[in-house]
Amino acid sequence: MTTSAVKITKSINSDSSQEKDDIARLESEVRGYVRLFPTVFDVAKGSTLIDTDGKKYIDFFCGAGTLNYGHNNPKAKLALLDYISNDGIQHSLDAATKAKVEFLRAFEDIILKPRNLEYKIQFTGPTGTNAVEAAIKLARKSKKRSHIIAFSHAYHGHTLGALAVTANAYYHDEHYGSRSNVTHLPYDGYMGDDVDTSEYLAKVLDDQSSGIPIPAAIILETIQGEGGINVARNKWLKNIEAICKKHDILLIVDDIQMGNGRTGKFFSFEHSGINPDIVCLSKSIGGGLPFSINLIKPEEDLWKPGEHTGTFRGNNLAFVAGKAVLEHWNEDFEDAIFTRSLMIQSRLKHILEKYPQKGLSYRGLGMVWGLDMGSGKVARLIINEAFNQGLLVESSGADDEVLKIMAALTIDIDTLEQGLIIFEKAVHHILDNAS
Ligand SMILES: Cc1ncc(COP(=O)(O)O)c(C=O)c1O
Repeated sequence: MTTSAVKITKSINSDSSQEKDDIARLESEVRGYVRLFPTVFDVAKGSTLIDTDGKKYIDFFCGAGTLNYGHNNPKAKLALLDYISNDGIQHSLDAATKAKVEFLRAFEDIILKPRNLEYKIQFTGPTGTNAVEAAIKLARKSKKRSHIIAFSHAYHGHTLGALAVTANAYYHDEHYGSRSNVTHLPYDGYMGDDVDTSEYLAKVLDDQSSGIPIPAAIILETIQGEGGINVARNKWLKNIEAICKKHDILLIVDDIQMGNGRTGKFFSFEHSGINPDIVCLSKSIGGGLPFSINLIKPEEDLWKPGEHTGTFRGNNLAFVAGKAVLEHWNEDFEDAIFTRSLMIQSRLKHILEKYPQKGLSYRGLGMVWGLDMGSGKVARLIINEAFNQGLLVESSGADDEVLKIMAALTIDIDTLEQGLIIFEKAVHHILDNAS
């Protein structure tokens, strides 16, 4: 882990307004983040990006959890340069390659064995939604039931199966097809902290006249990243696990955003001690490159050869980068994350103390924190102000009202401090000028 700020420089050699115009002219209206961060990024290292105008930005966004180990992580970069210069295999469908074997061995040695976890590893298509899609299919095949239970504010991706378990109405259209095999029930905290919504779930599944069929699987995020940094309590997660056991339901943990160390431990579910049947991992598992896997309990690995297939299952460059970044877990990584987590928490506490009358709150764990502004409009003004001051931060939640701090786990202390100062200044700027 580095402790001093990374230095990168960039000479200005392009016309960014022309570049932005060309993107608007050529790229589909579906584009999103280019609207949130209206610039043209060029180079990046660690937690700093530089755009084509030469302006620097500190990254508290991290590709929504893809860059947990920073941009161009030095371990991944060296391994990749070496691999490419030696003409390592680029693409192989799922044929055996040395890069794959080495990734599998490293994942077993560094991640699974020390945690006493036994899983088979399925390489799915390279995006998170591909992993979710495969998990849902496998659960349905295993349990010979079609129903799936998901939760309010859940986010699992946009292909049709994963979309069906994603809650936000903005992403849905009645013409996309039926979602009738999915029921969304209230997530932990949805009815306030005093109501334990797992009791409701237990009751409807115990009652054959509740109208909710026994599902093949329950799919959940232990912390809902896109849903507004909603943190499920350990007791609630344990209760859901017990309900799954009782009714022979598979428990799928979608750790696509909260895995890979984001919460301070490699898997987000380690805090609660639950033991999911299927774990979906993506984003940072490829060390910054597209890559997704599902971890499947051996007895649930019921796939027939090639039954769930695709051209980009496994990505050799991501095997190499992914293996390299796993080496961070051989160091005092959890302690380093904890130190950074405390810095973020104390800054958020400070902001709250400054505005007792605004009804702000914050929540999170490890290196994922949300500052709930109570208004998507106010959150957006703060994002814009932070961007102007050189900080990338996004928001989540039903109204995009929760500012989401997701710095790289490897961010050096100085850069983190600088980013937090900008963040606080942006909040002050907007709140102090609000009528
Ligand atoms: C929890 C969770 N699941 C699934 C996905 C979908 O991943 P992708 O965008 O790579 O398809 C995301 C993306 O943000 C996510 O946060």
